[in-house]
Amino acid sequence: MNKSKVYIETYGCQMNLSDSEIVASVLNSAGYGLTNDPAHADVILLNTCSVRDNAEQTINKRLIHLKQYQKKNNKLVVGVLGCMAERLQMQLIENKEIVSLVVGPDQYRSLPQLLNDAKNGIKGIAVELSKVETYEDITPLRTEGISAWISIMRGCNNFCSYCVVPYTRGRERSRTIESILMEIRALNKQNIKEITLLGQNVNSFKDPQTKQDFADLLEECAKEFPMMRIRYMTSHPKDMSDKLIEMMAKYNNICKHVHLPVQSGSNRILKKMHRVYSVEHYLGRIKKIKDLMPDCSLSTDIIAGFPTETEEDHQMTLDLLRQVQYDGAFMFKYSPREGTKAYEFDDDVPDDVKIRRLNEIINLQNSISAEKNQSEIGKTHTIIVEGPSKKNKYEWQGRTDTNKVTIFPNHNLTHKMGDLIKVKINRCTSATLFGEVLEG
Ligand code: SAH
Ligand code: SF4
Ligand code: F3S
Repeated sequence: MNKSKVYIETYGCQMNLSDSEIVASVLNSAGYGLTNDPAHADVILLNTCSVRDNAEQTINKRLIHLKQYQKKNNKLVVGVLGCMAERLQMQLIENKEIVSLVVGPDQYRSLPQLLNDAKNGIKGIAVELSKVETYEDITPLRTEGISAWISIMRGCNNFCSYCVVPYTRGRERSRTIESILMEIRALNKQNIKEITLLGQNVNSFKDPQTKQDFADLLEECAKEFPMMRIRYMTSHPKDMSDKLIEMMAKYNNICKHVHLPVQSGSNRILKKMHRVYSVEHYLGRIKKIKDLMPDCSLSTDIIAGFPTETEEDHQMTLDLLRQVQYDGAFMFKYSPREGTKAYEFDDDVPDDVKIRRLNEIINLQNSISAEKNQSEIGKTHTIIVEGPSKKNKYEWQGRTDTNKVTIFPNHNLTHKMGDLIKVKINRCTSATLFGEVLEG
């Protein structure tokens, strides 16, 4: 008999990408095959995101679209995994006829059993959150590439007032450093050149046995794998310790890029967001990073139009962007999420004002990003070759240590995936660098 084939589609953040690799591994061990084509799948799983309303609307539309596959194959099983599964639970089974499986982020071990039931027509749900599950004994089934995600912790305890993540992912828990190093040792033997340590708040990592912190973990990785590039995300400004910044500066193979979401430039709004730091604290962290690593690139997340945000608060956010000079930013319009603290606040910034403020933020940041990239022209960067660019198979791409996507000509395909090459930057856009390869 042919193996049942599973197609997994992933939405949301890197944690979800990493989780999909765990799901693939669990199902592979249970005898399932994987496919990249939903038309040939026996099982379609959507690993979903709930962070903003539009993320959920995308899934709702996708579920309607998937009905075409069910018409062609009435045995097709469709399941919803991830944060939306955790947030909506039974509602997904009750309201979406096509869905026969709902599995939250801490229940992926139960997938083989639930899929068996689903094939026999029994709809299933598993959404209990765990205080201990880290899947640290499961080796993720990764797609090929030179770069690997490693989940080092799960969950979040911060309860920022706007955010669903603490509800969809449960309490914070870290893996042991030993289990993380073991995973990297195996990757090191394959062609993996770069790892990204992942978590919603990686800098509050704490080894449950040795009590070592995130800076200790970075040091262990940097020392044991000197030829690997080490990245991490996301860090919270409250946990951005001097020790961590000093550790980044100490090791060449820890990439000089910090993603440090600020959300707003107004102390009053930060307080309402329950971010537990002030603009002054935040700027102090940025100063320390710039003092120790002048070439470090910086990125952030911003929310426009949080409840009660005034024009003055908004101007403070624009001022902060001008002051920090980020290389890039993810910028969002506030989206009220049921169950969060901020949902109880009056969503009093009209939508057209939210959109206007968001556009002002985006326009300003784009011009800053473009200017920062302009200053790269003439400089030389070492990049790891990742593969062909999206637009042209003879134009390949890699990333600088500072996480900037860099495109270079590769007409004779002389440069292979995983090669380290030196590129001199000769032009740019606000999002991408373009350069020529320097020989030798
Ligand atoms: N753990 C990370 C980010 C998780 S979500 C951190 O704390 O930095 C990624 C980003 O989505 C957040 O930084 C925030 O900017 C945005 N976000 C989260 N909830 C949101 C909401 N309800 N509306 C708009 N943006 C939101
Ligand atoms: Fe959400 Fe805040 Fe946790 Fe980030 S730190 S996941 S924004 S609650
Ligand atoms: Fe979305 Fe869940 Fe990640 S809500 S941003 S997929 S943790």
